[in-house]
Amino acid sequence: MIKEYDFDAIVDRRGTNSVKWAPDAIRSICGNPDAEPFWVADMDLASPVEIRKALEEVVALGAYGYPKFTDNEEIFAQWAKRRHDWDVDPKQVTICQGMLGSIAMLTELMTGENDGVIVPLPAYQPFLRLVKNYRRKLVPWHLRYDPESASFSADLKEFERLCSDPSNTLLVFCSPHNPSGIVWSKEVLTQIAEIAAKNNVVVISDEIHSDLAFFEETHVPFNSVAKQAGCKAVTCMAPSKTFNIAGEHFSVTVFDDPSLQAAFKKRQAQLFATEPALLSGTAARAGYLHGFDWLTQLRCHLQENVRFMDAYCKERIPEIKVVVPHASFICFLDCEQILPMAQADGDRNPGLYDPAISPAGGVLSRFFGIRAGIAVNDGTWFGGDDFRQFVRFNYGTSRAAVEHALKNIEHAVAAMR
Ligand SMILES: Cc1ncc(COP(=O)(O)O)c(C=O)c1O
Repeated sequence: MIKEYDFDAIVDRRGTNSVKWAPDAIRSICGNPDAEPFWVADMDLASPVEIRKALEEVVALGAYGYPKFTDNEEIFAQWAKRRHDWDVDPKQVTICQGMLGSIAMLTELMTGENDGVIVPLPAYQPFLRLVKNYRRKLVPWHLRYDPESASFSADLKEFERLCSDPSNTLLVFCSPHNPSGIVWSKEVLTQIAEIAAKNNVVVISDEIHSDLAFFEETHVPFNSVAKQAGCKAVTCMAPSKTFNIAGEHFSVTVFDDPSLQAAFKKRQAQLFATEPALLSGTAARAGYLHGFDWLTQLRCHLQENVRFMDAYCKERIPEIKVVVPHASFICFLDCEQILPMAQADGDRNPGLYDPAISPAGGVLSRFFGIRAGIAVNDGTWFGGDDFRQFVRFNYGTSRAAVEHALKNIEHAVAAMR
């Protein structure tokens, strides 16, 4: 019999070194340190109990010396087959200490200084930072936004145009896409791979949210289409979002090109960044080995949360359109109609909306933080003023917490009408 998991219970992480719940961090994004957090991409739901048991066993030992894991690659290959029907040879797999570290190293290896790096916008902001850190040139690829359907899509003609400039050599892709929630179809991925191949553009595909694709969706690993298109690509996955273990850095890089994999391993060794930590490796293995049923039920819960949010906004906060995600636990809310109210509120109360208090925020995140007591990421965090009408909301929590947040937002908006 399959065990039933309780996603109505949340873990109280106040005062537990959680960045999501840290008052200073919350203030920096929304101006109100006491706002309830619906931002950073981790969940308030407990990880699978099998992960907890595996960690408890290790913790109970009382000694925490250097680990040596021997079969992480095989364990991931089995997971890739089971979850994505993707055949991966364990030899293609290199384990890393987190997704961003691996993408930074790959960017360094796959491009030269001043090369153009194409990044779809809106983007998970660290992608933009890492391009700058490595003195590469950021080449924004704007996704198309349709306000009628409140959905984003890929403008492949624009991608082709960007690729045709020979100084643009790398695409840093996100699949499923954070923050739009798109699960890319095989057709779109194939076209991207073909265009990239034709123009000698290489691809890093960040698939950290892929295990959380919803039920009608099929996530297609980029490498599985790239090979046939002749496109040089690396696919990165991780158990961190999947099992809510993002604090235990662990990620997986899958190479089709052995020489690139060798260069990557060499760079890891130079940086002394090879083995995952003891608890990270323990948690990741337990998730991949024992977390499948839990994940299946979690996906149901998250999808139900999305349906609930969409219906709630349509009925009670028509000024907000949910950009309906097809994976994971974060989504954009289109708040175009709220933006002028928030701006007017800011003009009347410049002290509350002072960017010096909330340097990582924007007008809308300050409005939600100050007037609704709800902390969300401002759309500008994902690529500047073009996204100021959006906020990103994290619904990786109980239904009750989501409902509570929406009620607070509803009252704050009603007060401004
Ligand atoms: C698309 C994407 N990539 C990478 C990360 C961070 O990964 P890691 O903590 O393994 O560096 C996140 C976290 O939110 C993310 O959404």
